[in-house]
Amino acid sequence: MNILVVGSGAREHTLVWKLAQSEKADKIYAVPGNPGMAELAECVEGVSITDNAALVKLAQEKNVELAVVGPEVPLTNGAVDAFNAAGIKAFGPVQAAAEIEGSKSFSKNLMKKYNIPTAKYEVFTEAEAAKAYIRAEGAPIVIKADGLAAGKGVIVAMTLEEALGAIDEIMGDKAFGSAGSRVVVEEFMAGEEVSVLCFTDGKTILPMVPSQDHKRVFDNDQGPNTGGMGAYAPAPVGTPELLAQVQKEILEPTIKAMEAEGRLYKGCLYAGLMVTEQGPKVVEFNARFGDPETQVVLPLLESDLVEVMLACIDGRLAETEVKWSKGAAVCIVMAAGGYPKSYNKGDEISGLADVAADGSMVFHAGTSAKEGKIYTNGGRVLGVVSKADGIKEAVDKAYAGVAKISFKDAHFRHDIAHWALERLAK
Ligand code: AMP
Ligand code: GLY
Repeated sequence: MNILVVGSGAREHTLVWKLAQSEKADKIYAVPGNPGMAELAECVEGVSITDNAALVKLAQEKNVELAVVGPEVPLTNGAVDAFNAAGIKAFGPVQAAAEIEGSKSFSKNLMKKYNIPTAKYEVFTEAEAAKAYIRAEGAPIVIKADGLAAGKGVIVAMTLEEALGAIDEIMGDKAFGSAGSRVVVEEFMAGEEVSVLCFTDGKTILPMVPSQDHKRVFDNDQGPNTGGMGAYAPAPVGTPELLAQVQKEILEPTIKAMEAEGRLYKGCLYAGLMVTEQGPKVVEFNARFGDPETQVVLPLLESDLVEVMLACIDGRLAETEVKWSKGAAVCIVMAAGGYPKSYNKGDEISGLADVAADGSMVFHAGTSAKEGKIYTNGGRVLGVVSKADGIKEAVDKAYAGVAKISFKDAHFRHDIAHWALERLAK
């Protein structure tokens, strides 16, 4: 069958790479795609991923039988609803279900109503009321813009000053645009984070291998939050006991809650969790595959991704087996100088072919191509992904790959998987 992947990041490059391995896959189209996936998919320019009618028209013209929507923006914009209305199977939640990511206040209220463990919180639309609450609660405390902010609308404030400043920034200066007209102020949770993504058809839940992202821009988890600077899987913090607890206390009640609310959730549900002393608690839900988690999770998936996605769409997940490889995978993100603040574009990237020759993979995030050369074209430029029997070997192999790639002012974290390596050393 012909497949259409919507999106242009390293997550979508990974999806294309994995879908292309399926015997069921004929031609793959990507809109808009990126130069990294151009060998595996035909990239279609000139169609906006938020123009549902144009996406459907493209899918019809290309005889697409499966559409896979990667990013949160088209999901919350109803892309899956539009494909469905045209009789085209689409992987991902419908608009009403994608709200679990689209609005932090919706997802926090859902968790409160259904007793799903998460941090205590309040929602505010007035800066003064938010500040009064912050003064009463004290620091550390966490401030979140309500809407979508590309992973950057969250401020973990260690001091009262920082927290009050964050309210001014989000609500006064509108640093995240309309996403910040409402803020969620929540209790700070201490612990180690883990991402548990699952496939679901709205009833059955099949979790993926646990993974861990690195959100802060600098080594030792310093500096501002980013879209993610690297990841690895499986994350040893996700022990079988913990995962059983997550399934029972978080994933199952959430999927049931969404059904009870008339928002049947199908697709990939991403639970970002904090493993606290009181057990796992939800930091956030995402309505999609994580980025960069996908880059390390899908290389460990042994099953046919097309089959699994169709089973989610058709409600056949209970009869489907999803197999995982025993190895580990690590992704190091290389970013443009200045990211997550303003950064340069258009710098030539060299060394990409040398990495492939070593058996590692390079998934493109923000690149452009011109006359056979590849240039930087985004904050997160690319991810180098290596697979090995264990995490340590995968880390070493990935950094050997990173050392071969260069572009002006490239920066990356040197300590990806440090939580796992520390744990394994114990
Ligand atoms: P979010 O976009 O909600 O995932 O938040 C981004 C990052 O901020 C998370 O991955 C955590 O590292 C951190 N964070 C968010 N909420 C909390 C919280 N309540 N306590 C501690 N850290 C948090
Ligand atoms: N890795 C975090 C996210 O995908 O939102």
